[in-house]
Amino acid sequence: MNERENGGQEQKKPLKIQDNTFRDGHQSLFATRMRTEDMLPLAEEMDRMGFWAMEVWGGATFDSMHRFLDEDPWERPRRLKELIKNTPLSMLLRGQNLVGYRNYPDDVVRAFVEKSCQVGIDVFRIFDALNDFRNFKTCVEVVKANGKHFQGAICYSLTERRMGGPVFNLQYYLDKARQLEDMGADTICIKDMAGLISPYDAYKLVKSLKEAVQVPIHLHTHSTSGMASMTYLKAVEAGVDIVDCCMAPFALRTSQPAVEPMVAALYGTQWDTGLDLEALLEISRKLEPVAQKYVEFMDTTRVATIDVGVLQHQIPGGMISNLVSQLRENNNLHRLEEVFADLPVTRRELGTPPLVTPTSQIVGVQSVLNVLFGRYRMVANQVKDLCFGLYGKTPTPIDPEVRKKALKGYKRGSEPYEGRPADILAPELEAAREALGDLAKTEEDVLIGALYPTTGKEFLEKKYGRKE
Ligand code: CO
Repeated sequence: MNERENGGQEQKKPLKIQDNTFRDGHQSLFATRMRTEDMLPLAEEMDRMGFWAMEVWGGATFDSMHRFLDEDPWERPRRLKELIKNTPLSMLLRGQNLVGYRNYPDDVVRAFVEKSCQVGIDVFRIFDALNDFRNFKTCVEVVKANGKHFQGAICYSLTERRMGGPVFNLQYYLDKARQLEDMGADTICIKDMAGLISPYDAYKLVKSLKEAVQVPIHLHTHSTSGMASMTYLKAVEAGVDIVDCCMAPFALRTSQPAVEPMVAALYGTQWDTGLDLEALLEISRKLEPVAQKYVEFMDTTRVATIDVGVLQHQIPGGMISNLVSQLRENNNLHRLEEVFADLPVTRRELGTPPLVTPTSQIVGVQSVLNVLFGRYRMVANQVKDLCFGLYGKTPTPIDPEVRKKALKGYKRGSEPYEGRPADILAPELEAAREALGDLAKTEEDVLIGALYPTTGKEFLEKKYGRKE
């Protein structure tokens, strides 16, 4: 039997792979610290691999670049685009939150997405932490007007051990997918940021999605809990079209599964990716010393490369490190277990949001306050915004008592708002332009200041040599 014959009778359906090395890979493993200069030397070679897309921007990169790396965030996609000519460049966009932590008004969103198209982004993976797609509206208009690819993402979340229960059940995801298709999504992504999706749930979900919608299905997960590779295999068997991977030195642990074993595992099957394993291994070897440069940012506190605690508490990795630092600040680290116990309660009271930026921080901060000072004796400002409706509609109603406490004396009033959040947000772009004055030389500078008023301004001062 020929080695590529196994499964050869079935219809060929090559699995497509998106490479996330230059975004989620280093964001997950190395605190988003990878520098553009370390990407450029391998960019052309990566371009030749035949990835469906390369995710290179968005998520936390914009924040990290201007805040920690003193790099102009707009330069990265522009320079990569000069070298990566065949593979579409993808970014992760937090809907109306863009690459920040709150909903921005429409004028800022329009200008940001427009500029992102100009600097070379082809595929926009758009998500909203509440899966409230009204927060996609403005982004999608601009993406479509520029003829770019709109990938609608659904945040995968659970309240039970497996998919199901009253909130995040199969029907929930199918309804969301149909909504995205109606909005004109070119592809639909299941975004499992915490690595919670189990292999057989992935099978069931992908199979059902393939029947419910016409557009290709893309699966994004993390190896955090240890299930990801099994999950991809079952998703492939169910007919998933695209999966996210990273090159080995930037893969596994809290990152995505690696490209190389995925290609090897499917070799000779009906899902054979057609990617050249030898060529991939060559890049992998070259990426190893690059990753070594950032190893100081890797979590080496445990021997286990996976966090099996996720299987129990379902809290994403990034959120745990935030909780730990918040508790450590006031010498309360010994109360972490209490916070873990409180989290599901606080989450439910706040409308059962998926735990992803920024809701993971919002729920996490409030849970810590509840443990330290008594339930809702102190309410974080972002929780007030959430209770008012400024982030959108939560998957379940917010507890009325909690909402009453949170909105007492709230600046926008005590009556919650139910419309599209950005409809009540006043424009900000011109004010940002004025605040920066001659410090902003370009529209890109203005946007950095509009998104990040304090750290953005500091970055621009350094960029133009006004500050060391
Ligand atoms: Co991710």
